[in-house]
Amino acid sequence: MIRIDSVTKRYPDGTVAVDRLSLDIPDRSITVLVGPSGCGKTTTLRMINRMVEPTEGTILLDGEDSRRQPVTTLRRSMGYVIQNAGLFQHRTIVDNIATVPRMLGWGKQRARERAAELMERVGLDPSLAKRYPYQLSGGQQQRVGVARALAADPPVLLMDEPFSAVDPVVRKGLQDELLRIQDELGKTIVFVTHDIDEAIKLGTMVAVLREGGRLAQYAPPAELLSHPADGFVEDFLGADRGIRRLSFFPSAALELTTDAVIRSGAAAGPAAATGAAHLLVTDADGRPLGWAAREEATAGDVRADRLLPYGRPFTPGADSLRVALDCAVLSPVGWAVAVDGDGRVTGVVSQQTIGEAIRAAHTEGRADTEKAGVAE
Ligand SMILES: Nc1ncnc2c1ncn2[C@@H]1O[C@H](COP(=O)(O)OP(=O)(O)O)[C@@H](O)[C@H]1O
Ligand SMILES: [Mg+2]
Repeated sequence: MIRIDSVTKRYPDGTVAVDRLSLDIPDRSITVLVGPSGCGKTTTLRMINRMVEPTEGTILLDGEDSRRQPVTTLRRSMGYVIQNAGLFQHRTIVDNIATVPRMLGWGKQRARERAAELMERVGLDPSLAKRYPYQLSGGQQQRVGVARALAADPPVLLMDEPFSAVDPVVRKGLQDELLRIQDELGKTIVFVTHDIDEAIKLGTMVAVLREGGRLAQYAPPAELLSHPADGFVEDFLGADRGIRRLSFFPSAALELTTDAVIRSGAAAGPAAATGAAHLLVTDADGRPLGWAAREEATAGDVRADRLLPYGRPFTPGADSLRVALDCAVLSPVGWAVAVDGDGRVTGVVSQQTIGEAIRAAHTEGRADTEKAGVAE
């Protein structure tokens, strides 16, 4: 575990970049430092690998003062990834990735094999190995940066706004990739960003910093969204934190109905008894085709060209309540369509039912937090 214990950094010109910061950073998970520009995130990260020395306080690694070990040993145990990847422009991709293993004295062959293995791990095509950084897109370069940081298999990864310079679509891909890599490798990652959505998506724990390098709140993302510590954190989270918090609740418990689902060509049957104004029509295989007006469906008069689009379906086992709500909001009839992993309809659910589930989840969430409070 990395323990930041009452650390202050005052630069020679008097700027207090970090002010009595204390954080316990758990092993094998992603801890995010988030906050506005200039709040001391980079300084904090650089104090962990001693590119910057604290003015006061101590950083402990597995209980030992980080100043006790030689700085080179310390840095080798910590991969470092920065914005724009910081690659060596005159070296090929494979040589960039093999940098640290080569420095550690690995043979050329072994280092290249390791680089090839890492390219695959971060989702880079092997054909890119012989290229130079300028011949890669921003997102690809960022993947190389991650591969290079992982090359010597350090237990810790320090990442400073690594995805901030790429466009939103590429960024989402990089975030998903990082979560996947983390699942496989279980590194201790300290991740800096100014983007609260990125923090909430990636962090197991999130430290919100405010100007002057002071800690505003340190909590798991769901708790941040439900119980912001003060007005600063609340403002920083943005206006729709209630909606975003729904990402942390599964949609599996939603009560689906199949009464409003009919197969194309079949008689409406029990569907006729539901109050729903529209019935979902599926093909013979159970895949959604669209919504039919109830009178037309019960009259056996379903016409493919008159169906309303069913929109985006959700998968109860995999998707959150937020996704389910979004599907219902986007649906022309206000009902969300649930499908299994093969895309076959398992039922439909109304906005109203989702609303009830949301209220139940919030109540349960509160109960959990209260319990946690009692346990402390
Ligand atoms: N080498 C330095 N000398 C003086 N002030 C610095 C130095 N590096 C950073 N600062 C200042 O310290 C504060 C925190 O900077 P930084 O840690 O880079 O913030 P962040 O990464 O959150 O944007 C800022 O006010 C910045 O101007
Ligand atoms: Mg910074």
